[in-house]
Amino acid sequence: MSISLSINGEHHDLDAPGDMPLLWALREVAGLTGTKYGCGIGVCGACTVHLDGAAERSCLLPVGEVGARAVTTIEGLGGTGLHPVQQAWVAADIPQCGYCQPGFVMQVADLLANNPGLGDDEIVAAVSNVCRCGTYPRMRGAIAEARAAMTAKS
Ligand code: FES
Ligand code: FES
Repeated sequence: MSISLSINGEHHDLDAPGDMPLLWALREVAGLTGTKYGCGIGVCGACTVHLDGAAERSCLLPVGEVGARAVTTIEGLGGTGLHPVQQAWVAADIPQCGYCQPGFVMQVADLLANNPGLGDDEIVAAVSNVCRCGTYPRMRGAIAEARAAMTAKS
């Protein structure tokens, strides 16, 4: 079965069954391995991507249900450069093993872009992703940095 998707601004025809989770279609069919598999049950957030700019856990979403919504993965988040959240993450040297980090970046990028009224504490509370390395303390400052950069750009 061929499924047409817009991924990171490009058209893809993916040879995948409609009930395949979007996560596996991205990783195994489209070859975009930046999106990670963690729990597979919608809890950890390692698989977070954007659909029309909103964060979504791709492990639970059948690829056949994506439809015309634009998929953005960590590979395409910043376009030709790094997104402000990625820049802030690098500057704060947040990752340890790094496995969970694409999901965090995608989740925080959505929250900052689509909920400008949320304060830093509310952003932190709204991120339910899991980091087994315990990198949470460094994220707080990075969220503030990313917010400042995104506000300056808008
Ligand atoms: S792999 Fe999707 S939420 Fe954990
Ligand atoms: S950096 Fe290792 S799980 Fe988060």
